[in-house]
Amino acid sequence: MCGIFGVVSDLPLVDVLLKGLKRLEYRGYDSAGVALEGAHGLFLERTVGRIESLRSALEEASRGIFQDASIGIAHSRWATHGAVTEANAHPQSDGETALVHNGIFENHTELRAFFPQKKWESETDTETLIPFISEKIRQRRAFLTAVRESLDMVRGGYALLIINKNFPQQLIVAKNGNPVTVGRGKGAFSKSFFVSSDCAAMAPWIGEKADLEDGELCLIQKGPTESKCSFFDSRGVPLAKDWEPFVFADNDCDETDDFALKEIHEQPGLIKERIAAFDQGAFANWGARLAAKDALNFVGCGTSFYAGLVGAYWFEKWARLSTHAEIASEFRYRCPVLPPKSLYVFLSQSGETLDTLKALEYATKHAVETAVMTNVLHSTMAKKAKDLLPLHAGPEMSVISTKAFTAQLAVTACLLLETLAVQGSAHRSALEADFRNVPALLRTVLSNGDAMNAAAEVLATASAVIFLGRGLCYPIALEGALKLKETSYLFAEGYPTGEMKHGPIALMDASVVSVVLAPFDDLFEKTLSNTQEIMARGGRVLFLTDTQGQEKIQKQLCEAMAAGTVKIFLVPPTGELSKAFVYGVAAAQIVSYKTAKLKGRNVDRPRNLAKAVTVE
Ligand code: M6R
Repeated sequence: MCGIFGVVSDLPLVDVLLKGLKRLEYRGYDSAGVALEGAHGLFLERTVGRIESLRSALEEASRGIFQDASIGIAHSRWATHGAVTEANAHPQSDGETALVHNGIFENHTELRAFFPQKKWESETDTETLIPFISEKIRQRRAFLTAVRESLDMVRGGYALLIINKNFPQQLIVAKNGNPVTVGRGKGAFSKSFFVSSDCAAMAPWIGEKADLEDGELCLIQKGPTESKCSFFDSRGVPLAKDWEPFVFADNDCDETDDFALKEIHEQPGLIKERIAAFDQGAFANWGARLAAKDALNFVGCGTSFYAGLVGAYWFEKWARLSTHAEIASEFRYRCPVLPPKSLYVFLSQSGETLDTLKALEYATKHAVETAVMTNVLHSTMAKKAKDLLPLHAGPEMSVISTKAFTAQLAVTACLLLETLAVQGSAHRSALEADFRNVPALLRTVLSNGDAMNAAAEVLATASAVIFLGRGLCYPIALEGALKLKETSYLFAEGYPTGEMKHGPIALMDASVVSVVLAPFDDLFEKTLSNTQEIMARGGRVLFLTDTQGQEKIQKQLCEAMAAGTVKIFLVPPTGELSKAFVYGVAAAQIVSYKTAKLKGRNVDRPRNLAKAVTVE
């Protein structure tokens, strides 16, 4: 997890360093720190909290003396080893060597044992590498050699930026398992180099980039006029690397603090663009390929997994293709048998989620066909993909995934329609017409402000919330519960409506609200009966339904409606594909967003979370 950022420059770099770090904050934001090398030696500042706190602390502590710094490394933390404290924040340092780390040294306990007398300053795994490097430098090893030899001791994943006060003009970068990219500056920064765990963080300043591969190192050396950047393999043998031009569609990531709402409202336009891509034949090759398969599998985590689950319902029902969705962290370790005539689609907004990446590696090793559906085209998964299904949703800045989810649904719908075309399915034209209607339906949902506020008021008073859905609405119920948990910190659970009576109904009382996803479809009557079972136990209910559903509910539950224990949040009538979009946006995103706002939560940066989960 954690974001790392480094700059080597002949220009003042502190402001750039902090701006770059801010762009990386989505990777973790419980604490942050910088280390600077300049004429005044090695300087370190760390704070608990967001980048703004670090900026104030830095301004106060350094009193401007570090305006002459020529090398800086910075870190935004998502705690793994050790609590959220200043001592555990990065950079970790012994006063000579300072480093920032994304990843985990799995053998940190063994590493500590090499220095039994040492008084450790933190509980982090990261600190355990430092004495190896400093000791080798005291033994007069060159900086790069000292780092390289010390890394031989380490087991685990890392992207590292390392500086040492005896080598004030050098920055070393090392990679194993976790991504890191070096950027060459452009414009005023043409003599500068940048390094980061995500090249999007360097976007305003770089014109070219070079990705490090596992085991590789990079030495950036500040010269009197020019800086120099050299790459090495794990044995220290120099490597020739090509610099690629770097182009990035930015999303004014720096300043806004409520990306979630902006991103929710972008969805009708984004789906329209996917429909246009579909019309231009972007998915045409997939139909025959999918129709020839015996099985289809979607693998992902969190919201991406739920999008895969919707895909599984769609493909089984309409294409009659055996389809499953699975959580990536389980997939890999249960040693699944992968049938040869199957396709495995790995879904990930970030393309960096380690569980999904490892699942992809497992499938690749077992020689089945794979594809990666991702939003980040420079991500590790995109690079490893045999086939890429881009989401084109634009940068998703809020930690909660919204527009990437609907983009995943849209791409999956395109795959389904292409498959049905090859199969000559009689259902295809109705499904296609319904899919084309999604942007308009979402616009209707998004314009329904007052109803959304009323729904949020109901949830904000609950002690717990249970999202219930049958059929396609079941994965949406799971997504709704996830969204509500992460934005509002309310206890929420997603359940298949029919499963309520098998246990969870024991939870029901007036403090619990059930959000019942009830489109007026062939499962509506059963859903309504299950809801009555809840109400009979004193539970409160918030229905999401359409006008036909509303009519039935008003007739059958008029007393409960009058008493206020049943409320209705009206959404437009939907078809078989649009249902997942409409209920996904309404039940999962809007209701959660509004509830979180009522509770005064930071929706873009919920506590304890990070946007890209790069640890297992
Ligand atoms: O980047 P990915 O799609 O691989 O991320 C997977 C999950 O970590 C992610 O969906 C997470 O559950 C979000 N916070 C949901 O809003």
